[in-house]
Amino acid sequence: MSTSRTSPFLFLAPVAVGIALAIAAPFVPRVAHADDACGTKANPNAGLAAALDKVAATNPDPSWTTWTTIAKQGADAARKGDVAGAKASCKGCHDGYKAKYKAQYRMKAPPK
Ligand code: HEC
Repeated sequence: MSTSRTSPFLFLAPVAVGIALAIAAPFVPRVAHADDACGTKANPNAGLAAALDKVAATNPDPSWTTWTTIAKQGADAARKGDVAGAKASCKGCHDGYKAKYKAQYRMKAPPK
């Protein structure tokens, strides 16, 4: 239980919220500013890619070998505008790790 190992993944919960906002962001403005929808498609995807890059860097457990790969694949897909590919990474990681993460890491206090 060293701090060097615990500190990065404590950011994961806020990152998950950030990802959720990045996903939600494209849909909200489209309702209010329908004309912008075509021209701004890349912007929310860039935000999502950045969020997934951050997730990739916060692998909490060295034994979770596909965590980083899944998140990076999602980030690459988001950068290409491949929303389906980006969403596949959400599911891939949640199916593989969310339950384990909650069981092992969720109760740790966030850093001050
Ligand atoms: C590499 C792993 C990984 C990837 C990729 C990932 N997540 Fe998560 N996500 C998690 C983990 C772990 C949790 C549980 C965190 C906790 O409970 O503190 C979580 C929780 C969440 C939550 C909180 C609600 C819940 O079901 O527990 C949301 C919302 C969420 N993720 C959305 C997304 C979306 C949207 C994407 C894709 C764009 C995504 N995540 C990609 C690992 C990931």
